[in-house]
This record gives sequence, C-alpha cells and structure tokens, in this order.
Amino acid sequence: MNTKIVLLNPECPDEAALQEAGQILRDGGLVGFPTETVYGLGGNALDKDASLKIYAAKGRPSNNPLIVHIAHRDEVYDLVREVPDMAEILMDAFWPGPMTLIMKKKPLVPDETTGGLDTVAVRFPSDPIAQALIAAARVPIAAPSGNLSGRPSPTMAQHMIEDMSGRIEMIIDGGQVGIGLESTIIDCTEDVPIILRPGFISQEMLEELFEYVTVDRASVGPMKEGERPKAPGMMYRHYAPKAPMTLFEGDTEAVVARICALAEADAAAGKTVGIIGTDETFARYQVGVVRSFGSREHVNTVAHNLFAVLREFDDLNVDVIYAESVPKKGIGLAIMNRLSKAAGYHIERV
Ligand code: TXA
Ligand code: MG
Repeated sequence: MNTKIVLLNPECPDEAALQEAGQILRDGGLVGFPTETVYGLGGNALDKDASLKIYAAKGRPSNNPLIVHIAHRDEVYDLVREVPDMAEILMDAFWPGPMTLIMKKKPLVPDETTGGLDTVAVRFPSDPIAQALIAAARVPIAAPSGNLSGRPSPTMAQHMIEDMSGRIEMIIDGGQVGIGLESTIIDCTEDVPIILRPGFISQEMLEELFEYVTVDRASVGPMKEGERPKAPGMMYRHYAPKAPMTLFEGDTEAVVARICALAEADAAAGKTVGIIGTDETFARYQVGVVRSFGSREHVNTVAHNLFAVLREFDDLNVDVIYAESVPKKGIGLAIMNRLSKAAGYHIERV
C-alpha cells in the first residue's frame, strides 16, 4: 500500500485534504493524524473491520481496547448508556482536551473496538486538525497511538512515517504535538474517579474537583503476578530500549554523581553509555552519548521531548542507558510512569 503524506496547517487546514481523509475513514481505511497528546492511528470506531485493521497495522493484541475520538461533546451521548455526574463535571472542566473517560458502552460500539469490554473509552481532543478530521469523517474515530506496538508513541509525523509507511492509507503531518504524552484515562464507572493512566490532566487537578480520587496501581508500579490493570494497555511494557535502562531517583546532585561514576566505569570497560539528563545537568556528564529531555524548571518540556529522545536512543547503538527522574507531581507522575515502564521498572534510589 502506498501511504499518502499530507501536510496540513493547523491554523487553516486545507478543506479538500480533510474531505479526502474523511472519505478514506468512511470507506473503512486508516489515517494517521496529530492530536494535542500524541499522533493517533484512526479508523471508523463503529466499523469492526476498521478496528481489526488498526490492530493489524500496529501489530497490537486485539484484547487491548481503542479510544473513541469525537468532534463535539454531545456525541458522547450516542456512544454510552449513561453519563454519570462525575463524567459531566470532568467534561465541563477538561474537554476538549487531553482526557479520556471510561463509561458503559451502547451496543452500537462494536466489541472489536472495545476489546470485548462492556465499557468504552471516549475522548474529545482539542487539536484543531484532529477536530476537523473527525468532523469531516462524520463518524467517531477509534485511534490508538500511531506507533508500532512496543515503540514509543509518535510525537511528530516523521515517527508515524517510520512506523506506518506502507501499512495505512494516509498520514496527516500537522507538525510536532504540544503535550507529548498520551491522555489521562479516568474510569467513571465506579463511585469515585479512578486514574487508569496518568497524563497532563493530573491527580492534583482532579483533586480540585473531587474529594476522593484514586490512582490505579498499574500507574504507579509494576503489577504483581496474577494482578490485572483496569486499562488492559497498562499491562504491556510499551517500550523496551534495546539496551538495558536504569532510572535513578533521589536528590539530583547524588543522581548525577552516581550516573557519572557508573558511566566512567562502563566507558573504561569499553562500553558505550547513553545518558538521559536534563538542561540543568546536561553539561555535567563527560562520557557517553548525552541527551537532555528538557528542563527541571519546566517539566512540561520533559513530557514534550521524552518519546523523541527514547526513539533516538533506539537508533544509537549504546550498550547501557542511564536516565534521571523528575518528581512525581503534576505531569511528573505521567513522565515517571512512561520512564519506569521503559526501564522495565529497573529503578535505583540514590
Ligand atoms: O492521547 C491518547 O489517548 C492517544 C491519542 C491518539 O488520542 N491515544 C492512545 O491510545 O494513547 P492507546 O490505544 O495507545 O491507549 C489506549 C489505552 C490503553 O491502555 C487501553 O487499554 C485503554 O486506553 N483503554 C481503552 N478502552 C478502555 C476501556 N474500555 N477500559 C479500560 N481501559 C481502556
Ligand atoms: Mg499507545
């Protein structure tokens, strides 16, 4: 299959291109597109064959459900049996935006889209191209992150082109995404909101609205033998760098000193070391391939760059990777969730 790449300006996306993409989606084809979080791999959410094609293109197990994207808030009522008050409060506060809500599905949403669950994940993105594309398709769009299963999520069209060329009909290039980490997923089927996957919409933001907010264990640590995360996708390691990766937690000075000592010993033993530092500490590392994933002062920049840096380390043939941590507050919880999984929970406290 020849994948058509279309460049769109988010401020005034070309209408003819949007209509062509919308037609592909209505015909059961797949289109890669930007959202404010990461690039998505879209197909008609109400067409079970389109959902099956998404799993095939990603190489993803089909029991891992997809997120259904809508272009107007009111479309949520078409997809779910009941919208709990909790969900109304969340939608008022954070839609359109980087938040996905889990509710009981109506029968019109195929089991193929929800991985056999009787709930559906719904998201109303704020990105103008995403909104215009879903509106042009005139159907809700199922879209997982547009990476091949096991690779970091794409934050620019080039990442999607690397992973999806020849596998899907079209990729819309709308430039680099803003946030850089996938949406916060919140389960609205219980008495209190449960964060199933941390993201830009943080626990602290939810605590402004609700007395009790729970975080599913799968977001904060490895699952024990036999334990199951509420979001099936949280079970997967997601991204495993080719080289073993260790994440260092603790006082920044101590972390830098520990990484420097290990890196020097490894270099002396003939190994190539990869180091993921921050703008503030970057210059302190004297050996190895050193990258910064952003500034400690502005931790949003770390979210923004994280997946691109992880992808780069996949291409650099290093023998071992050492990474700094950020505090687990605000979006830091989401950053540490993705980093811990990348390191296979190989975390050293110094
Ligand atoms: O920011 C995002 O959410 C991006 C963009 C493209 O919108 N999408 C995304 O989709 O990250 P994906 O497929 O990579 O991750 C979806 C996650 C998985 O962990 C999946 O298990 C969970 O959502 N999920 C989907 N439906 C669910 C449901 N009914 N119950 C629990 N978890 C669900
Ligand atoms: Mg994903």
